[in-house]
Amino acid sequence: MLDLFPLARPFLHRLDAERAHGLSLRALRWGLAGAAAPPPPAILRQTVWGLDVASPLGLAAGADKNGEVPDRMLALGFGLVEVGTLTPRPQPGNPKPRMFRLGPDRAVINRLGFNNEGLEAGATRLEPLGARAGPIGINVGANKDAADPIADYVTGVERMAPLADYLTINVSSPNTPGLRDLQARARLEELVDRVLAARAGAARQPPLLVKLAPDLDDVALAEAADVLVDKGVDGIIMGNTTIGQREGLWSPLAHEAGGLSGRPLFGLATERLARLYRLTEGRVPLVGVGGIDSPETAYAKIRAGATLVQLYTALAFQGPGLVTRLNTGLAHRLKLDGFASVADAVGVDAAEIAL
Ligand SMILES: Cc1cc2nc3c(=O)[nH]c(=O)nc-3n(C[C@H](O)[C@H](O)[C@H](O)COP(=O)(O)O)c2cc1C
Repeated sequence: MLDLFPLARPFLHRLDAERAHGLSLRALRWGLAGAAAPPPPAILRQTVWGLDVASPLGLAAGADKNGEVPDRMLALGFGLVEVGTLTPRPQPGNPKPRMFRLGPDRAVINRLGFNNEGLEAGATRLEPLGARAGPIGINVGANKDAADPIADYVTGVERMAPLADYLTINVSSPNTPGLRDLQARARLEELVDRVLAARAGAARQPPLLVKLAPDLDDVALAEAADVLVDKGVDGIIMGNTTIGQREGLWSPLAHEAGGLSGRPLFGLATERLARLYRLTEGRVPLVGVGGIDSPETAYAKIRAGATLVQLYTALAFQGPGLVTRLNTGLAHRLKLDGFASVADAVGVDAAEIAL
């Protein structure tokens, strides 16, 4: 595949980060970027939640909030793609600028605030897709002005269950006031009870995942894990952006308010993932997200306990060719270490990783 990103990058990186992202999505939609990657190496294929996944490498939520290009993203070599976050009603999000590229730190800070076109617009785009090259997950959230935020998640599950290969309940965005409070035991129990009931009443019952924040401390993480495993959710994503980790950043934009993603998030998110793996003892598949930008970091997430991994920020710095490089490098590392499959490597380092 001819990788044009190195040519486009100087131009894109002179633009505001959100505008550059919008242009990249448009280029993908028009077929101008990242055509036809080779299929991922066979060793990367797994069945997770009954889904055939060609690579453990997924696109994280937020890159394709409105479901404009999930098929194009799958064609880049991702094994799965997560659309959203979608809220019941469309909303504009926070005032611009609200997304900042921290070049020297290989990071992004965003305070977008769930800008999205709403569930209906997302559903209208996803309905005609038909047969898919890989699983498409749909990540749902609550509107900023929701009187009963949990009811918004129920609406999301009801509307998207027929269309999603899996559903993600996102209670970890730092940019919607009060949202992260839903991770506390009592609220989380109520939320999970209600969304699982909504799923049980739907025509299809896709796997249901909950996405947590890497900022949960040991006690909060243990409580959340307890509730989620106990209630029978199918998977847990660790994790979203962090409101911490600002010390040691080089970029003049490091003080911007919002959630930090990319390289400076890797250590924290991977440690929280390993701890979650120890807490859940492999009883639910975990999705490791945060700071993946190389085969080594993707592999480290798997060894820390992730059955699947996702990324977003590194795409802004390395372009769509990164996906194939990661697939190839990951397969190489698994073989070098004598593993016959991804599953064999999951969690092998979990006991050793601590902050
Ligand atoms: C600009 C931007 C927007 C995001 N929007 C969402 C979102 O709508 N829903 C969500 O669950 N996560 C969202 N995320 C978080 C990512 O899915 C991911 O958890 C986080 O960025 C860490 O992964 P990374 O370091 O590979 O980017 C967003 C991240 C960024 C950078």
